Amino acid sequence: MPNNTPEPQAVCNPISRSAIFIVATIARGEGKADVVRSWCGDIAALVRAVGTRAPTANLSCVCGFSADAWDLLFGAPRPASLHPFREFGAGDRRAIATPGDILLHIRADHMDLCFELASQMLNKLGDAVTVVDEVHGFRYFDLRDMVGFVDGTENPTGKSAAQYTIIDDEDPDFAGGSYVIVQKYLHNLDAWNGLTVEQQERIIGREKLSDVELDESIKPSCSHSSLTTIEENGKEVKILRHNMAFGRPGAKEFGTYFIGYARTPAPIEQMLENMFVGRPPGNYDRLLDYSRAVTGGLFFVPSIDLLDELPDRNPNAGPSSVDDSQRDDTRTGTLSIGSLRGTSQDE
Ligand code: HEM
Repeated sequence: MPNNTPEPQAVCNPISRSAIFIVATIARGEGKADVVRSWCGDIAALVRAVGTRAPTANLSCVCGFSADAWDLLFGAPRPASLHPFREFGAGDRRAIATPGDILLHIRADHMDLCFELASQMLNKLGDAVTVVDEVHGFRYFDLRDMVGFVDGTENPTGKSAAQYTIIDDEDPDFAGGSYVIVQKYLHNLDAWNGLTVEQQERIIGREKLSDVELDESIKPSCSHSSLTTIEENGKEVKILRHNMAFGRPGAKEFGTYFIGYARTPAPIEQMLENMFVGRPPGNYDRLLDYSRAVTGGLFFVPSIDLLDELPDRNPNAGPSSVDDSQRDDTRTGTLSIGSLRGTSQDE
C-alpha cells in the first residue's frame, strides 16, 4: 500500500478473543439519515473514549454501509464494486440476502469493552436505526470455532493482509476502503458431533487437533479448504476472515459468524458459489449439510479519512468535481434512492 493511501479502518487488526457484530437498518423519515451521517464523525472519538480506559485490550471498530445505505446517506459517487449481497445456491443450501444498512464489527480481548462501545454507538444513533441482528462472538480455547476446528490459519498477515483487503488506485475516490461480507451460520451440532473426527477432517480439509492441512492425496475436492482456495491468472487470491463462535446452549443455538474482508467482493462471491453451488456444480461444501446461513450482507468500509468527511456529504448534490459526462451518474445516484422501495441496484 503506497504511503499516501488514506488510513484504513481497523480491518487488518490482529485476532481478538471477543467481538460484537451489529447489523442495523436506517429508519425512514425526517432527519434520520442526518443523524446517521453526523454519527460517522463521532465513531473515532467513541472508540478512543472507551479504548483508552483499557489500553492493552485492543478495542477496535469497523463500520460499513450497504449499497442502499450509501445511496441514501451519501449519494454519488458510489464505491465501484458496491452492490446488494448476491445470493447463491437454492433450497436448503442457499446463501440468502437479509436486510441491513450498517454493519458494526466491534472487537476486543474482553467482552466488556465490546459491550460498552456497542452501547455508546447505539445511544448516539437513537431511533435513527433499528438493530436487525446482534451477535456476541467468542473464540474457543486455541482459537477454534463452533465446529471445533482452528479458524483463521490461512489468513494473510502483515503487508499481505493489507494487499488483499485495502483498495488502492483501482478506485481512487475510495482508496483505503474495503469490502466486507457477513453471514450468520447455525450448526446442527448433534449431527456434526455424530461424525467421526476423520469424517469432519475430510469436510474441512485439515486435521482437527493439530490443524495441519490434509495431504492433497487424501483431501477431497469438495473439502471446505479446497473450495475456498481460488486463483486468478494462476495466482491464489486470499481474503481476511475474523470468524467467531456464538450461541446459547440453553436454546440449542450453536453458530459461527462468518466475516470476510477483501479488496473487491468478487473473491468472496466466488468462494460462496464454490461452497453453495459447487466446483464443478454439485461438488458442494459438505459443511453446509450441517450449517445453514440465516443472514447475508455486503458492506463497503470507508477509510478513516473518508469516514470523517462523510457527515458533510449531501446525497442530492453529487460531487462538486464531476464533469458533465459524470452528471448522469450523479442523477442515477439520486434516482437509486428510489430503489430503496424495491428496484434492483445491482451493478
Ligand atoms: C459455517 C461457516 C464456516 C466455518 C465453520 C468455517 C471454518 C473454516 C475452517 C475451520 C477453516 C480452516 C482453517 C483456516 O484456514 O482458517 C477455514 C478456512 C477457510 N475458509 Fe471457512 N468457514 C466457514 C465459512 C466460510 C465462508 C462463507 C467462506 C468464504 C465465502 C470461507 C472461507 C475460507 C477460506 C478462504 C479459508 C482458507 C482456505 C485455505 O487457504 O486453505 N469460510 N474455514
